[in-house]
Amino acid sequence: MRIAVIGGTGLIGTRLVGQLTRGGHDVVVASRATGVNSYTGEGLAQALAGAETLIDVSNSDSLDEAAANEFFYGSTLNLLTYGAAAGVAHHVALSVVGTDRLARTEGGYFAAKAAQEQLIVRSGRPYSIVHATQFFEFIANIADAGTRANVVRLSRALFQPMAADDVAAAVAATAVATPLGGMAEFAGPEQFRLEELVGRHLRERSDLRDVRVDPLARYFGTDLEERELMPGPGATIMPTTYAEWIASGGRPAAAPEAVASRVVARG
Ligand SMILES: NC(=O)c1ccc[n+]([C@@H]2O[C@H](COP(=O)([O-])OP(=O)(O)OC[C@H]3O[C@@H](n4cnc5c(N)ncnc54)[C@H](OP(=O)(O)O)[C@@H]3O)[C@@H](O)[C@H]2O)c1
Repeated sequence: MRIAVIGGTGLIGTRLVGQLTRGGHDVVVASRATGVNSYTGEGLAQALAGAETLIDVSNSDSLDEAAANEFFYGSTLNLLTYGAAAGVAHHVALSVVGTDRLARTEGGYFAAKAAQEQLIVRSGRPYSIVHATQFFEFIANIADAGTRANVVRLSRALFQPMAADDVAAAVAATAVATPLGGMAEFAGPEQFRLEELVGRHLRERSDLRDVRVDPLARYFGTDLEERELMPGPGATIMPTTYAEWIASGGRPAAAPEAVASRVVARG
């Protein structure tokens, strides 16, 4: 199956492209680095030509609400429009567990992700939305976003993070199946408090920043209730634990050029 991966050079995209390629699929790696800009439309028609499935694992360069909204709205509208013109039969997008409720109450980055989802749902196109929990690889970003004056301030909200390889496996399995016409949730096997795992993660990396509980700390522009990042009871639980991920070296993304796949030529 020919599958175009928008954001195929990113954290999840690189892993996804590797897994799909090893599964025998003809994968088109699409990102600005390969001459495809989903926001401006540059190179999109070429990238989607002959693709049965389009997987969107792109992300905004900035995670603040205005920039993220501009990116996800413009990019998703382009992907749906060019996808329909190319005859794409399955539009798959990766989003975050809790997006709908967080966008409803708070906004921030999640308002942009909710707008992306709504565009897809209302497009009339065959689609699947994958909701994943936070990636282990993203914990350092959570720490950085909560840092002021070298102190990390985080709420005690619960989360159930997962390995990026498991996220990619979830997206790949969804993409090669029949379109859901809905959303499926995936999560890691263990539940933590934000401040607990971020503190443990920083210690693993000999990062001396102090981590403190701050009940008013915001999470990427959002005020978190205790269970707002948690998956529902129907979520598929993926296998890799935090300890296993650390033991495996917290594997960084493979270089895109190491992935045997078809890359759209620039220009
Ligand atoms: N972080 C989490 O814990 C978490 C949890 C659940 C879901 N998610 C979702 O997972 C998705 C992927 O996240 P990630 O961390 O893998 O992202 P990432 O590593 O930042 O990668 C983003 C990708 O998007 C591409 N991109 C950015 N702007 C583009 C444009 N205008 N046109 C084409 N490609 C563009 C980038 O490549 P170029 O720079 O070459 O364009 C890159 O390949 C996001 O949508 C996020 O909401 C994240």
